[in-house]
Amino acid sequence: MTDNRSIGVFDSGLGGLTVLAALRKKFPQESMVYLGDTARLPYGTKSPETVIKYALANAKALMQQAELKLLVVACNTATAHALPALLAALPIPVIGVIEPGALEVVSNPKIKSVAVLATAGTTESKAYEIALRKHGFAGPIYSQACPLWVPLVEEGLVTGPIAESIAKYYLNQLPAVPDAVVLGCTHYPLLLPVLRKMLSQETIWIDSGHATANRAPSFAEATAGTAVHYFVTDAPKKFQELSSLFLGTPVLDAQVQLIDVGVVS
Ligand code: DGL
Repeated sequence: MTDNRSIGVFDSGLGGLTVLAALRKKFPQESMVYLGDTARLPYGTKSPETVIKYALANAKALMQQAELKLLVVACNTATAHALPALLAALPIPVIGVIEPGALEVVSNPKIKSVAVLATAGTTESKAYEIALRKHGFAGPIYSQACPLWVPLVEEGLVTGPIAESIAKYYLNQLPAVPDAVVLGCTHYPLLLPVLRKMLSQETIWIDSGHATANRAPSFAEATAGTAVHYFVTDAPKKFQELSSLFLGTPVLDAQVQLIDVGVVS
């Protein structure tokens, strides 16, 4: 049976394109719609209540744009705060990025200690710790908020001395060198070339976006085309210009549409 409905993906901005890229690789036959809530980024500094409102509005907007078979919450902060609300509100399957990231850790017996690098909102929610403990991870978990990494990546500063010194600033705050590091924010995988040089050569780097794509449910082969449509709530030109940093190839002007998602109260 074919199912021509789309996979919906949303993030606070551009970062979720790292998750979209992984999903595209895993499901090349699926059409997808992506919403970057660029007008209201960052989510990582906002209250849970606000992020829940934004997430519900984003989901509603995506469902108005396309018929969805799955919604992927690509944003770690939105997953941390809003996944239960989305699961309760939507009539379709919804997955976030935190559970898959945690499962990736516990499925590797070499990992006895882990650092979770994320936004302040995700760190304060303790969502990764809760998921890791739920799945039986007994070792130390070092949670570190790295708030400057999001604007750094949004500026395209992913290599060079500024990226290196800001990366070092946060990694130096870890109490010990962990066996694994979870990149618990959509933007952080772009800093990986810099980060890799700073901890041990043996450090295992876990990209929650990849983990999510790997663990996303498989669907019956779709035949309606494999297009991706991009929606943003502000600054489509900037989104288009920076897209290749996250996707590898640039999104075309014509593929990006500005929409107003409003707020669900
Ligand atoms: N997308 C967010 C996340 O993965 C990072 C950017 C933001 O703060 O909005 O947590």
